[in-house]
Amino acid sequence: MTQASLSDLIDTRRARVGVIGLGYVGLPLALTVAQAGFSVTGFDIDPAKITAITLRKSYIEAAPDAVLAAEVDAGRFTATCDFAGLGACDVIIICVPTPLTRHREPDLTYITRTCDDIARTLRAGQLIVLESTTYPGTTDGPVRTILERTGLKSGRDFFLGFSPEREDPGNRAFNTATIPKVVAGDGPLAGALMQAFYGAVVKSVVPVSTTATAEAVKLTENIFRAVNIALVNELKVIYEAMGVDIWEVIDAARTKPFGYMPFYPGPGLGGHCIPIDPFYLTWKSREYDLSTRFIELAGEINSNMPRHVVTRLAEALDRRLGRALSRSKVLVIGLAYKKNVPDIRESPSLKLIELIEERGGAAAFHDPHVPVIPRTRAYGALMGRASVPLTEEAVRGFDAVLVSTDHDGIDWAALARWSPLIVDTRNVFARHGITSEHIVKA
Ligand SMILES: NC(=O)c1ccc[n+]([C@@H]2O[C@H](COP(=O)([O-])OP(=O)(O)OC[C@H]3O[C@@H](n4cnc5c(N)ncnc54)[C@H](O)[C@@H]3O)[C@@H](O)[C@H]2O)c1
Repeated sequence: MTQASLSDLIDTRRARVGVIGLGYVGLPLALTVAQAGFSVTGFDIDPAKITAITLRKSYIEAAPDAVLAAEVDAGRFTATCDFAGLGACDVIIICVPTPLTRHREPDLTYITRTCDDIARTLRAGQLIVLESTTYPGTTDGPVRTILERTGLKSGRDFFLGFSPEREDPGNRAFNTATIPKVVAGDGPLAGALMQAFYGAVVKSVVPVSTTATAEAVKLTENIFRAVNIALVNELKVIYEAMGVDIWEVIDAARTKPFGYMPFYPGPGLGGHCIPIDPFYLTWKSREYDLSTRFIELAGEINSNMPRHVVTRLAEALDRRLGRALSRSKVLVIGLAYKKNVPDIRESPSLKLIELIEERGGAAAFHDPHVPVIPRTRAYGALMGRASVPLTEEAVRGFDAVLVSTDHDGIDWAALARWSPLIVDTRNVFARHGITSEHIVKA
């Protein structure tokens, strides 16, 4: 099959699409592609996800049950653990994890294993797209190398592209279809196919000249966030010492209609992207004898934040209640790394609990989205702990409340009445018009 015939299959929505990795990125994307009229097969190694999809039960907020059920019932979406079906797909999109190793280096094993799976049934005329976040040079490096071991050639036999994912969990203003999508192909034929395919699926496509450029776009977006968050975190500590409220500063600064963009301080970075992705560039830069000082500095400042917050908590306990942290019980509000999502990957709340307990205090948590702490690589000892209900009796059993995540739906006014001391890392009480001597910002 040629580029022209794949292009025709895309235009007429007869192209069969495979999405590998049905997580936060892959499942909403698979449904968006199905909604655009394509027949989609999802592939995942996790049988629990396949069973849930078959039962029309979504496990990702951005992929509502109703949309999942509609696409499965219409016969446009199926899911399987059997990768033999990859050969039948005309377009294959890779959405597998790209974490860091123990030594904080890129772990590409999920991508390379997936490329091995694709290579087993690779055929002429397929378009293979990488969406996982990675360093510039992955698509036309390791990915192409593995696929070309089959004897087929990128740009001549099969086509290769990269398109970064810009999913923002919990954001109700945008979804996969409405977020502009950056696309690039390995060569002009692949570039044209990328534009045709994504143009059929999302509202707006932003073509760039090479796959390495598209990979760099994604890293740039996340590094921009990591560095700016570190900047306001540093300013927070400085202004705190001067008795100046960083949130008031930001609210006033953001009224400037040009040249300023608000970022907010917090208890530290969390999630699968911002704490991890910048280090893909750090690693790759070493190959060019270059250092990434902004990234390293931002990482250092952001990862020190939980320690700073616990120091503020200890000071507040001492000053306001005359109590040592080592003899205190602390209720951490919010375990997820950001508001209104159940995702606890890299969440600073876990670090806060660990730090409080390291200093001899007792910590519990409340999170309406996380009933029980699941297994995590770094915080195995916390597994199985359950969310404390926010009743007056329960809250009164703690010496302090530490707000780490400002989920909607929490009764902040009641918390302010029931708790003798509140340490707020999100400025949520002030935003709700609740100020008091016993509410301390950190
Ligand atoms: N979560 C986000 O908001 C977000 C945003 C932008 C980009 N990304 C990037 O997208 C990629 C995927 O992230 P995610 O958050 O969706 O991860 P995730 O962990 O939610 O999902 C990954 C899925 O891949 C599956 N998987 C793992 N190995 C596999 C294999 N060999 N074959 C098939 N399936 C396999 C897992 O079972 C899981 O269902 C990462 O590169 C990430 O950096 C994520």
